Amino acid sequence: KIQVLTDPDETRAFSRRCRAAGKRIALVPTMGNLHAGHLDLVKSARQLADVVIVSIYVNPTQFSKSEDFGVYPRTRERDRALLQELQVEATFEPLTLYHPGRGSSTEGQHLAGTDDSPAADSHETYIQVERLQQGLCGRSRPHFFRGVATVVAKLFNILEPDVAVFGRKDYQQWRLICRMVRDLDFGIEIVGMPITREADGLAMSSRNSMLTPDERIQATCIRSSLEAASENLQSGKLSLLQHVVSAISQRICDGGGRMDYVEVVDAQELTPVDKIQDRPVVIAVAAWFGSVRLIDNIEVQVK
Ligand code: PAJ
Repeated sequence: KIQVLTDPDETRAFSRRCRAAGKRIALVPTMGNLHAGHLDLVKSARQLADVVIVSIYVNPTQFSKSEDFGVYPRTRERDRALLQELQVEATFEPLTLYHPGRGSSTEGQHLAGTDDSPAADSHETYIQVERLQQGLCGRSRPHFFRGVATVVAKLFNILEPDVAVFGRKDYQQWRLICRMVRDLDFGIEIVGMPITREADGLAMSSRNSMLTPDERIQATCIRSSLEAASENLQSGKLSLLQHVVSAISQRICDGGGRMDYVEVVDAQELTPVDKIQDRPVVIAVAAWFGSVRLIDNIEVQVK
């Protein structure tokens, strides 16, 4: 039966026992409400290691006050059942990962929105990946990657995995974790897996369940706009990236979405690209459908 770990010290002890027995450990960090995209990461982790640990923790420091921390779907029983089917050895489900201070209230709530509120907690150490955290999603969510990098570093320090698996749906997050691991010598292998999609192409996301039925249908225009853009680039039909970008926004707006951003960036450095050369690029999109913000991307290498 799957082990449910909650205490960080006991979790580290569990992980060290596995390591001492000569086992290779894979970590899949998640915020729960698991879908087929998460489960694909778990299946890959299964291939890469002897022991698979999935962390489930809705991390308050990566949400701003106005975001959906409070209503982020929490479905622990179901998540555990799904992971048990995949023969996952353990989940790590800490109650909190931040040291509470005087004045802290409900779990996490006081930490969400640390960008604009004086911290009531005693946690004061954060990791910033200075350049990579700034563009794309970092522009509209300036608090976000600091929270992600910090919590992932904490998970790495608690679980001490050999390998950790991330999804390329959150492309900037994946690149940023790779950079953090390299820069701070974590000595953990980072694997980035392709995006898992619904039958109609929509990238799987925990937030898809917050869409109304109409918005759910509208949201498919994200993927179709990216595919069209990729085809146009491959065929050389639209070689001016400005045109590619405006075609995507047009299609998403016509489809009922509101753009946050669409950008063509270097796949490695995430720096803006204005002319496609021999390096692979990523077209990254964030758009709102109703009150739900969705992201997607496509990697393009023009031969
Ligand atoms: P969460 O959104 O739960 O995602 C957990 C992992 O699943 C991430 O690596 C994400 O990229 C991957 N993932 C989500 N949807 C996917 C899809 N459709 N295809 C492939 N992979 C997908 O990302 C987070 O949680 C958090 O920021 C976390 C890293 C856990 C730190 O709190």
